[in-house]
Amino acid sequence: GHPFQVNKEGHLVIGGLDTVGLAKKYGTPLYVYDVSIIRENCRAFVNTFKELGVSAQVAYASKAFSSIAILQVMKQEGLSIDVVSEGELYTALKADFPTEKIHLHGNNKSIDELTLAIENNIGCIVIDNFYEIELLNRLLDEHDKNMNVLLRVTPGIQSKTHQYIMTGNEDSKFGFNLANGQAEKAFTQLDNHDRIHFKGLHCHIGSQIFETDSFTKAAEILFDELAKWHSVYNYTPEVLNFGGGFGIRYTKEDSPLPLAQYVDELVLTVKKHISHLQFPMPEIWIEPGRSIVGNAGITLYTIGSTKEIPGVRNYIAVDGGMTDNLRPALYQAKYEGVIANRADQPNTTEVSVAGKCCESGDMLIWDLPLPEVNNGDILAVFSTGAYGYSMANNYNRFSKAAVVFVENGQDKLIIKRETYDDIIRNDLSYE
Ligand code: LLP
Repeated sequence: GHPFQVNKEGHLVIGGLDTVGLAKKYGTPLYVYDVSIIRENCRAFVNTFKELGVSAQVAYASKAFSSIAILQVMKQEGLSIDVVSEGELYTALKADFPTEKIHLHGNNKSIDELTLAIENNIGCIVIDNFYEIELLNRLLDEHDKNMNVLLRVTPGIQSKTHQYIMTGNEDSKFGFNLANGQAEKAFTQLDNHDRIHFKGLHCHIGSQIFETDSFTKAAEILFDELAKWHSVYNYTPEVLNFGGGFGIRYTKEDSPLPLAQYVDELVLTVKKHISHLQFPMPEIWIEPGRSIVGNAGITLYTIGSTKEIPGVRNYIAVDGGMTDNLRPALYQAKYEGVIANRADQPNTTEVSVAGKCCESGDMLIWDLPLPEVNNGDILAVFSTGAYGYSMANNYNRFSKAAVVFVENGQDKLIIKRETYDDIIRNDLSYE
């Protein structure tokens, strides 16, 4: 079910390299990305738009994994990026990302965030609320600048996913609701504005979505509104941004669609509506995060202690946990894994993989089929490339794990392992 090979020693291989060797060289826990998979995923989106002859921007949602190196890969692949904070924007600027391809999101953008965005002439700000319109207006005047914007609207769709990552429903902290006229009111404040160039609409309906229906429905709702704005204000959009959310495979229970299919269906729906309304074809923007980096990354751990509760369950503990992968604890997210140093052996037992944090909820995988497990074995957990490192934390004063990129048989450290001096870096004395 995972895209990685096993070599003749029976070791799991990623990007042509032996994972056991990588674990030795860099220590564990270790995040490893196969960059060729990242590039394939980028190209699946970009090329599908090209083949369909549709002008588009594929903006990598950098919240899924932000670092200088990954943003350099996105730059090489010609993607745009979305950032949702000053820290993500700062990282993009430090990666020398072309500023006109940066889009800023956020439901409570600060003066500092907006100022950094304005000073660096970023490509687009996605406006989320009325307060932001006021603030942006004032800051653009102060800096004597203009800015492209999209309006984030809430189409009121319940996508089939976990409640915490469901973002398009009516009762959401994000965006302007369409149903109660808020979006239209925002539009009238922005249309024909001197400094704010209103380009179109944005919606994001949720994350880890496995069907195209929700996207098609969102598009329909957007076009219902646009039809109204067209007849009342003679407005046609230049850009429609449908957000991210394309699902990936974590376990055998997940059956994602090919990435191209999401694009195909979206374009088809948009074309249907614009021909009906006689609009010119807008640019289509999307914001995939998980589907670009998720399945390209794995995490390597060293197995330490084990605990058997006869007739109940066997636990194995690894040298990481909710500090490097918060998703199981936060969303009951499921993962699969193998013993990397004996990846050729059949599964003969079932164990539950515990982290080492002082917290019972710190479990990475329940009831994972594995061969016989010994301490010192390397556990590889698959599909940890999205929202793994980016949600890593220092609970129990664990240091954040290192990140390695592999490509064409070469490995390269792209984020150093935190040291304990890093951990106490900002601590000040009180004696
Ligand atoms: N665009 C917007 C406006 C978003 O809010 C998000 C994700 C994305 C794009 C990217 O969605 P993706 O393609 O990655 O599904 N921490 C959670 C996911 C939170 C997603 C929040 N917004 C997790 O680990 O599942």
